[in-house]
Amino acid sequence: SGVERLGDMIANAGIIVPFTGAGISTECGIPDFRSPGGIWTRNRPIPFDEFVASQEARDESWRRRFAMEEVFAAAKPGRGHRALASLHRAGKIPAVITQNIDNLHQASGFAADRVIELHGNTTYARCIGCGQDYQLDWVKRRFDQDGAAPNCTACDEPVKTATISFGQAMPEDQMQRATELSQACDLFIAIGSSLVVWPAAGFPMMAKNAGARLVIINREPTEQDDIADLVIHHDIGEALGPFVGN
Ligand code: OAD
Ligand code: ZN
Repeated sequence: SGVERLGDMIANAGIIVPFTGAGISTECGIPDFRSPGGIWTRNRPIPFDEFVASQEARDESWRRRFAMEEVFAAAKPGRGHRALASLHRAGKIPAVITQNIDNLHQASGFAADRVIELHGNTTYARCIGCGQDYQLDWVKRRFDQDGAAPNCTACDEPVKTATISFGQAMPEDQMQRATELSQACDLFIAIGSSLVVWPAAGFPMMAKNAGARLVIINREPTEQDDIADLVIHHDIGEALGPFVGN
C-alpha cells in the first residue's frame, strides 16, 4: 500500500523535509481554507493593501481573529504533527517548512528555529510599520476599549497578526531557508496542502528538480499530484499515525 511504500521511503532517506498545509491541523479542530466549510468558503480574504488602507478592514480582520481564539487556544498537536516530531527527534527531519500559522509544530516539539513559517504565525501580533511584537491580549484589550483595531504605541502604524496576507511580502529569511532545505533533502513530503498558493507551492517542484523524491499526502487530489513519486489520498492522521513514536 501507499503507507507501506512511504515507510520504506522514510527508512531509506537521509534527510527528510516535510512541507505542511492546513490539512495537518484539521484533526486538531482548526478548519482548512478550501475544503467545504473551510475559511475561504465562509470569508473573503482581506488583502494586505486593504488592511493597510482601511480601519474597517482592520476591525473586520481582528474580529475574525478573536472569533477563532478559542479554537486556536484549545488546539493540540495531531497525529501528523507528532509523527513529524518523532522523525525530527530520530534525526531524520532537520526542520519543517509550513504554510500554517497555528504554532502546532512548535507545540509538538520542534524548536522555534526548526519551524520555517512561510506565512507567519497567528499566535501573536506585529506592527506593520516598525515590526514591534504585541501579545494578542494587548490587542484585544485595546480593541474592547476603543471599539477599533489599535495602532502601534511606538510608531502609530497598524498592528496585525504576525501572518502574511495576500499581497504582503514573503519573509525573505524563511524563503531562503526553505529553498536550501528543499534543495538539500532526499525526500520531500507535502502534507495537507492543496498546493495552489504561490510562491509556497513552488517548493515541492524545487525539491524534485534538485533530485529529491516527492511524496504528497492529501485527502483530495492536488495541483501537483502528477509530479509526485508517490501520492497518498488518505487521511493524514491515519497515514502518519504509524510513525508516531515516543
Ligand atoms: P487548503 O485548504 O487549500 O488545502 C488543505 C488540503 O488539506 C485540502 O486539499 C484538503 O483536502 C486536505 N485535508 C484537510 N484535512 C485533511 C486530513 N485530515 N487528511 C488529509 N487531507 C486533509 O490549505 P493550504 O494548502 O494550507 O495562506 O492553503 C495554502 C494557503 O492558502 C494558506 O497558507 C493560506 C491560504 O490562503 C495565506 O492566507 C497567505
Ligand atoms: Zn510600530
